[in-house]
Amino acid sequence: MLKKIILCLLTPLLMGGCVSGKEAAMQKIQSLKDAYADYFLIGNIVSGVDMDDLRYNILTTHHNIATAENAMKPQYLQGTKGVFTFYDADAIVNKALSRGLNVHGHTLAWHQQSPAWMNYEGVSREEAVINLTTHAKTVAAHFKGRVVSWDVLNEAIADNPSNTEDWKANLRQSPWFKAVGADYVEIVFKAAREADPDAKLYYNDYNLDNPNKASVVYNMVKDINERNPDVVGRPLIDGVGMQGHYSSHTSPANVENSLQRFISLGVEVSITELDVQCGEEGKQTDAQKVAQGITYAALFNVFKKYAENIGRVTMWGLDDGSSWRRQACPTMFNDNLHPKPAFFAALDPDKFITENGASIEKKEAKQAEAVYGTPDLADAAAWSQAPAISIDSYLMAWQGASGTAKVLWDESNLYVLVNVNNAEMNKANQNTYEQDSVEIFIDENNGKTPYYEKDDAQYRVNFDNEATFNPQSAAEGFESRTTVSGRSYTVSLKIPFRTIDVKRGGIIGFDVQINGASSRGARQSVAVWNDLSGGSYQDTSGLGILKLTKR
Ligand code: XIL
Repeated sequence: MLKKIILCLLTPLLMGGCVSGKEAAMQKIQSLKDAYADYFLIGNIVSGVDMDDLRYNILTTHHNIATAENAMKPQYLQGTKGVFTFYDADAIVNKALSRGLNVHGHTLAWHQQSPAWMNYEGVSREEAVINLTTHAKTVAAHFKGRVVSWDVLNEAIADNPSNTEDWKANLRQSPWFKAVGADYVEIVFKAAREADPDAKLYYNDYNLDNPNKASVVYNMVKDINERNPDVVGRPLIDGVGMQGHYSSHTSPANVENSLQRFISLGVEVSITELDVQCGEEGKQTDAQKVAQGITYAALFNVFKKYAENIGRVTMWGLDDGSSWRRQACPTMFNDNLHPKPAFFAALDPDKFITENGASIEKKEAKQAEAVYGTPDLADAAAWSQAPAISIDSYLMAWQGASGTAKVLWDESNLYVLVNVNNAEMNKANQNTYEQDSVEIFIDENNGKTPYYEKDDAQYRVNFDNEATFNPQSAAEGFESRTTVSGRSYTVSLKIPFRTIDVKRGGIIGFDVQINGASSRGARQSVAVWNDLSGGSYQDTSGLGILKLTKR
């Protein structure tokens, strides 16, 4: 009985079952895969929980390709050396095939969810290569004819890459890289091609909307395919997978730029793990549901535009309740498996934007004043004329270190004084952004671009006066000082203007961020002045505005 009631409630999704009155009208919810039949495949993930009829019917109603969420990862297929355990993965793959879905394989090589024996510390190159190729060949051969494509290699590029020309220098320091060297990338792709020449072979990664990370992947695929133009009839790498773990702050323009770049390589592109975070503690306000829908709509509009070169768009999670990021409600269906605004946004992006776009308030950038003057960095009193800016809007839930900033300017430099309170004075983490530190973002022409232009730069100084720059060239002429007192520290910075002739009354894009480390050496809080997107390191559109005045 209970099952029957649930089924009736879900009738609109299942497009069958109890049909009467109002329900019959609601039943007309369109299928996502049908809406995109002329564009690309629509996918989602499958794990053990999806095998019941209710979930599986939603899967097959709206999707035509499946990815195993975990079952085909190295840890589950060869947890013990030489013992391949295909039972769960076979069940997932065979059920998908029997229900008319295509299957995509994920993943042959990764630094996560892989057994320790495969590439333990100190393993020889020779043994590591055997482990890598044996796994890739055995698994690819096992599923040959049943999968249309493989993520051969997952997440091999480091975060926040600098010199993007040299892709090898930006490879993640993963166990495979350490044991084998940079050629492990080609080795694993060749093994997969040999075992299953018909499957499309993908390189898959996250944050590929970041132009720098995208450049590294672009250069890697270009180099490898130029050197391997004919491996069983075609270049070695068939496709780039943009995972697409996004949020409602993601810039669709950045996604589009990266898509264009990869397509220009002549490879197929797929969106392989799409979800859009927009919620906290498993809850979403109505405004968040709409904001999330707008992002889904904008993204699907971009995907439609490049449909000719896009193989599939796969969502990472059928519903919020089963999502790996369930706290942030990132999928198109709620915990009760009802479609959210995000679903209708993906179904008909233009309609959704027309109906809801106006309700999204465009937040005005905050404005502040910088006062004319040339201070001595050691003399905090030199900033006394400048108004204080509060750095106290938090990006993450935790409310850690915060502070105030004051700014002076002259014809050559901007001078920023930041006072930080409530800090742990921890710099244990090797990621400099996870240390107690202050960041300044500058957009000299206030161009508010979704990627960094020549006039844009990021400066980071930790409480111990260690500075890092993005781009590195911004270090030229930069100076800083820090003083620490109890749980407070002060940073004063001299930041040269790099591309503009400054004038009184001029404006620049500007923001300040305070990274708060925990006593255990991980970032626990981020306080900012204006840009709550979390993307100011790559996108200047959310920065505040600084007016250069004389007093
Ligand atoms: C995630 C799964 O969703 C989780 O169930 C698991 O605990 C960890 O991995 N990038 C990938 C996916 O390529 O394999 C990851 O999936 C999410 C990030």
